[in-house]
Amino acid sequence: MLELTITAKSSLPEETRTDALLWAVPEGKEPPRPLAALDRKLGGMIADLYGFGDFEGKKKTHKVLYTLGRIPARRLILVGVGKREEQTVEGLRESFVSASASLLSGQTKTAALVVPTGLGDDDPAATGAALSGIALRLYQFLDYKTGEAATRKGPTMLTLLVPPKADLAAFRALAEREEKLAQAVSLTRDVANTPGMEMTPARFAEVARTMCRKRRLKCEVLLPAEMKKRGMNAHLAVGQGSKNEPRVVIMTYSGGKKRDAPICLVGKGLTFDSGGLCIKNADKMDLMKFDMCGAASVLGAMQALADLGIKRNVIGICAMAENMPDGGAYRPGDVLRSMSGQTIEVVNTDAEGRLVLADNLYLASRYKPAAIVDLATLTGSVVVALGTQITGLFSNRQPLAEQLLASAQAEGEGLWRMPTTPQMMELLKSEIADVKHAAGRWGGCCTAATFLSRFVDNRPWAHLDIAAACFSEGDLKGADGRAVRTLIGFICDFEPID
Ligand code: BES
Ligand code: MN
Ligand code: ZN
Repeated sequence: MLELTITAKSSLPEETRTDALLWAVPEGKEPPRPLAALDRKLGGMIADLYGFGDFEGKKKTHKVLYTLGRIPARRLILVGVGKREEQTVEGLRESFVSASASLLSGQTKTAALVVPTGLGDDDPAATGAALSGIALRLYQFLDYKTGEAATRKGPTMLTLLVPPKADLAAFRALAEREEKLAQAVSLTRDVANTPGMEMTPARFAEVARTMCRKRRLKCEVLLPAEMKKRGMNAHLAVGQGSKNEPRVVIMTYSGGKKRDAPICLVGKGLTFDSGGLCIKNADKMDLMKFDMCGAASVLGAMQALADLGIKRNVIGICAMAENMPDGGAYRPGDVLRSMSGQTIEVVNTDAEGRLVLADNLYLASRYKPAAIVDLATLTGSVVVALGTQITGLFSNRQPLAEQLLASAQAEGEGLWRMPTTPQMMELLKSEIADVKHAAGRWGGCCTAATFLSRFVDNRPWAHLDIAAACFSEGDLKGADGRAVRTLIGFICDFEPID
């Protein structure tokens, strides 16, 4: 959870009362000039720090200085952000994630941030990067801790210090936006971090209902009987080996004009993926509670859309199931009649994500959307291809891919386009059915995406393979709320295709 209020006020750093004053500092051998007024009050403390060569503002380094009552701020945290010409949104955010570790100790109740200027003067992107980095690090998932370890640490109030000449109203709006985005990202992380034993498809549906009720979003939950009626047999097959029944959660946000076609977001929501009968090996199987990160990001994005009052129509579809081995489980060799009418030969029960998506992408296409964007922890192959930080992007429309790349770039979330080809489609030919759902090891993330492309009824569609990019084992342990910000930026700036 995240308990954080973000506000903006016009105030000079050297006059601001706070437990921790954060100041972004570019790399250099001398203290940066904007710190001069402060350093005079501190009796040359900063000059001394630089004089000893103890701090140079290198990326992901920071120094905590105790001010001993010389200024109203109890501590000054210099946040190294690296060379001025090399600064990026991602780099800035990472530096703040790293420095904000020092906010988590002791009695820090409030923090203040000097508006960073790294990406151009008063650049909202730089401020967004810094605020989101702080919020990412202040997030703590304590539901399963007890005693002392269960107490939240760090500030609950974060104030953006706006220079006297700058546009305070604009920064107030920015602070409010960042607070809402941070809350949405935090919801995504909470849901994804909750173990599979509790975050079942039914529980996820309840969380979604609660989120929607508070915001007057429409929320429809399809139970297995209704899914059966609609012919969602591929999705149902994946869940049939688990006691925790599948669900489809459909959230509708109508912020746009009535006649505007909606954007559909579709999330893979495997609350746990054991692999089914083609069971995974034990090593890191625990990470498969994160196999619902796509659905969790869709949920977070829907909350953010409503909280920010974005003027678009968006439908969020979360495809929930648990993939388990059992006497009733689906098997390799089974042939599934999908909602689209196409029959699918099952070759590996661990390639379950594309089966639930097949039906849910088709369901999305029934809304005649202007675009469909799905998010899925779909393949281990994309991790081999792009590593643990970058999301794979696949799309059947160039302009849609470009729009997503632009918003990911603006938010500093790694995204890289990958291909689907007719030759890959050949590899999915089946002897017994219309198509098989997997085609061996090589280019696994590409053949998976190629399979998905058959179920979107040729609507503009993009697929984000967020496997491994959506959780981390580094500074931010657990789910990281991947792609929520990219989605919001994308939806805000969306230009219809064709
Ligand atoms: N959920 C996994 C993919 C995954 C792996 C996500 C690692 C995050 C980290 C997916 O359902 C899966 O098991 N994919 C298989 C497909 C294969 C059997 C064709 C894979 O990628 O190995
Ligand atoms: Mn799997
Ligand atoms: Zn999976």
